[in-house]
Amino acid sequence: GRVAVFMGGDSAERDVSLKSGRAVLSALQTAGVDAHGVDVQGCLLRTVEAPDFDRVFIALHGRGGEDGTIQAILGQADIPYTGSQVLASALAMDKLRTKYVFEGCGLPTPPFRAMTSEAEAADVVSALGVPLSVKPAHEGSSIGIRKVYNAAELAEAYRGAAELDDLVLVEKWVEGPEFTVSLLQDRALPAIGLSTDHDFYDYDAKYLTDDTNYRIPCGLAPEDELRLQQLALEAFRVVGCRTWGRVDIMQDADGEFWLLEVNTVPGMTDHSLVPMAARAAGISFEELVVRILRDTLT
Ligand code: DAL
Ligand code: MG
Repeated sequence: GRVAVFMGGDSAERDVSLKSGRAVLSALQTAGVDAHGVDVQGCLLRTVEAPDFDRVFIALHGRGGEDGTIQAILGQADIPYTGSQVLASALAMDKLRTKYVFEGCGLPTPPFRAMTSEAEAADVVSALGVPLSVKPAHEGSSIGIRKVYNAAELAEAYRGAAELDDLVLVEKWVEGPEFTVSLLQDRALPAIGLSTDHDFYDYDAKYLTDDTNYRIPCGLAPEDELRLQQLALEAFRVVGCRTWGRVDIMQDADGEFWLLEVNTVPGMTDHSLVPMAARAAGISFEELVVRILRDTLT
């Protein structure tokens, strides 16, 4: 059948999604799949009434694409799609409530607070200590994330994050190193270690510069990498994800791992991590997209 690659969209990660989508599309075409790209802007309802496709590869990142809304519309129209279904997509898009689930399941995640006004800054600093990470709860690609060292900076960062999102998450800063584990067909791929000259693995480090250092093999002892992969797989399972995803994890100075979040439509650009992990496991980009697509049929 015909495959539509959904890309673009209206979120702050539109540009990243266009890159992911084009890469996915060209790989599908190379693999001989009858595929075309669809830039999903505005309301999708009319498109699914008379679709010129019978399956969808979702390469949308962020709100309105990765968050369960598109998944619900496609499900209602009986059109199979890649990746996680409605609940997991919506949950993973909300970093705060994902952490509630991690905690509820006894999985390690850095101490945190939901912050609802600037006036809470001093309380949050005394409860969690510094430094802190301030995040709009529903963004991706590190958009709007700030590192702060005191209550005044927290208040200011809160104002910035609150402009992007009606939910602001404040989390105890874990110095790192950062690791990311990609999941494919419910199995963990080799972990990647990340380091950067930036304060953390931010938007620039992710997409714009070439000075980010990716370690694969990740440099951990084999038993620690296994522990990391198992933690990622558990995070993927408790959120209820399907087929593929990527879990971001920090390691502290004592060697403990801390879950940050789950991404249900991870980046698929030429800078992206899932393709890198797949390659290390002997899976080409083409095979990766074909495998993700194949799971929509089961
Ligand atoms: N949100 C970006 C696309 C990622 O997780 O890779
Ligand atoms: Mg994310």
